[in-house]
Amino acid sequence: AEAAFVDSLLAQMTVEEKLGQLTQYTGQWAVTGPAVTQGGEEDIRAGRVGSFLNVYGAEYTRRAQEVAVEESRLGIPLIFGYDVVHGFRTIFPVPLAETASWNLGAIEHAARVAAREAAAVGLHWTFAPMVDVARDARWGRIVEGAGEDPFLGSRVAEARVVGFQGRSLTGLAADTTVVATAKHLAGYGFAEGGRDYNTADVSERTLRETILPPFRASVDAGVQTLMSAFNEIGGVPATADEDLFTDVLRDDWGFDGFVVADYTAVRELINHGIAANDAEAGVQALRAGVDMSMVDGIYVEDLPALVESGALSMDVVDEAVRRVLRVKRRAGLFEDPYRYGSEALEASVLLAPEHRAAARDLARQSVVLLKNEPGRGGSAALPLQRGLGSVAVIGALAADSISALGSWAGAGRREDATPILPALRDAMPGTDVRYAPGYPAPPRDGFLPIVDALLSDDTAGHAEAVALAGGADAVVLVLGEHRELTGEAASRASVDLPGAQLDLARRVIAAAGDKPVVVVLTNGRPLALGALDAVAPTILEAWHLGTEMGPAVADVLLGDHSPGGKLPVSFPYVTGQEPLYYNRKRTGRPADVPGASEKYVSRYLDVPVEPLYPFGHGLSYTTFETTPPVLSADRLAMGGAVDVTVEVTNTGDRAGAEVVQLYVRDEVASVTRPLRELKGFERVELAPGQTQRVAFTLTPDDLQFWGEGGAWTVEPGWFTVYVGGSSAATESARFELVAE
Ligand code: IFM
Repeated sequence: AEAAFVDSLLAQMTVEEKLGQLTQYTGQWAVTGPAVTQGGEEDIRAGRVGSFLNVYGAEYTRRAQEVAVEESRLGIPLIFGYDVVHGFRTIFPVPLAETASWNLGAIEHAARVAAREAAAVGLHWTFAPMVDVARDARWGRIVEGAGEDPFLGSRVAEARVVGFQGRSLTGLAADTTVVATAKHLAGYGFAEGGRDYNTADVSERTLRETILPPFRASVDAGVQTLMSAFNEIGGVPATADEDLFTDVLRDDWGFDGFVVADYTAVRELINHGIAANDAEAGVQALRAGVDMSMVDGIYVEDLPALVESGALSMDVVDEAVRRVLRVKRRAGLFEDPYRYGSEALEASVLLAPEHRAAARDLARQSVVLLKNEPGRGGSAALPLQRGLGSVAVIGALAADSISALGSWAGAGRREDATPILPALRDAMPGTDVRYAPGYPAPPRDGFLPIVDALLSDDTAGHAEAVALAGGADAVVLVLGEHRELTGEAASRASVDLPGAQLDLARRVIAAAGDKPVVVVLTNGRPLALGALDAVAPTILEAWHLGTEMGPAVADVLLGDHSPGGKLPVSFPYVTGQEPLYYNRKRTGRPADVPGASEKYVSRYLDVPVEPLYPFGHGLSYTTFETTPPVLSADRLAMGGAVDVTVEVTNTGDRAGAEVVQLYVRDEVASVTRPLRELKGFERVELAPGQTQRVAFTLTPDDLQFWGEGGAWTVEPGWFTVYVGGSSAATESARFELVAE
């Protein structure tokens, strides 16, 4: 029925109407909200546009849809897209932070809430999840993904796709779901030097084993659209990469939704130097399998003449149109083009109390306790005691609500977000909570002024902060990045604490003497913390946690919630360790083996090879013990399975969550294999004294790699499994994969 419907519509379309369906324009800000661009209505009426981005609001989307459905020749509905990345109005933690919860159910729910709010304002489609694996902290968009690991990234991608779209294509037509986009295919996270939009030059093996798995997982979870990346890989700009968009995505994976180009990415093929003009760029992208151009209008402006002249085959155009119409139909738009969005829904759904509650819950779970060692007073600073006479809150970011929301914060509003300072004041009624900015407070608006303020070496606020710290019973020192220092086009050559924050930290910690000092970090990427770590006994990673950031951080600081987050990215001592990731390859000259040379080994002279805080690391206010792994067998046959079992016990006196992680190392293979790779995890909530059994199942499929012959391969041999609370887990067991 779907194919017949689409084909009968296609048969009635002119070339221009077809290419109009493959064209997306952006909206502009009107008096009360983002609306269709001036002149846009004419395009809709003429069937020269199939989609808008950055147009939302029940009123505006309904008006534009009326023009499409009632005034255009064929009445094909528009599809409205927007970057609903970690919430629409109720903002959840930035995706990197959400991932730190390792709680797939909560991540899925966050996407569902975002979809519900987005649908209420007339949106049908989100440009999320970003599933780019990122190993380089310098890249600003590391904040938008699930971190450095393809396995974790794949599970999070599935959760987000299902959260946005529902579990089935039938669910996609519900008015509480939106079409999802897995982006950016491919290699965007591997930009050289971490510089946004830069070249990526990766091997076929890295592409297959590390970059593509979360895209494949998204497709398997039913994602209906993908977005092409801005970058090139090995000489081919992604937006013109037929291997990727046709051979791999369609032919191998069976994807039958559509691909949208990133913003002006089709026209950027000219800048990449593979097209001389718009028409050439359009032909290359469409032939590669990029079905819809974003913003540049090239398909509808430049391609009709080429189809008429026979230079571009109508079959290529038809196939792309079929894909777009199919997704519009699956989203329920032909059945009821107005099904999403109404003023009544907007009023009842946006910032609904249950949405805020879910955002606070996930925010608490996303916090990672990096360290909590006894300070000069002899005990660990966290959790803070209640009933203190005074607490000094130092750091301008503690009062910055826009940074709490983080990068790509949809239609989140600063007035709805609670940063740390007011939340702590609320949570500590009898305590005098004093505040000093310490470093320059960011101006309210303007990208460069904000960046300049945060990166400035200005130490004028240090004296006031030091005096405040000296006179308080405890200090909460909030350091990190303004949200404008993270996200798209926000790469940093140094991932140190910005400006003079390290100097401030040293002085404040010294002035606090024996009193507890908690460093709370708020940032969107791994920071180089070697120097801070040397002086700070307690460091809490709080990222950019969204609308409910302040209350969530207060819950953790005061012990109402024990931190249980785990890092989805490695944290370096210094920037020079980047790119840094736990599942790296071995080397012919390892430094950490008995008898290694004093000099001719693979290491740095000035810092360790290992990260300061490894992937998977995170502490709690309680303690956990995990038994060594027990295997159901020490031989695994092809077609068989081996169970890996541990028992984990909460050995402390508070409730808490532990994420038990399973890593596998392939000892000897025909190509080099990583030191270890994540193959399973389970987050368990345990009461004091409680023990839980955690079991994982491994099959030969889990042991595959991209073999020499250019195909997935499983080879017999020995494998070591490691199970524990981080990627540095040492408890292990071995099994042999046998060929029979
Ligand atoms: O979805 C985004 C993409 O990730 C970056 N460029 C702009 C797009 C639409 O806003």
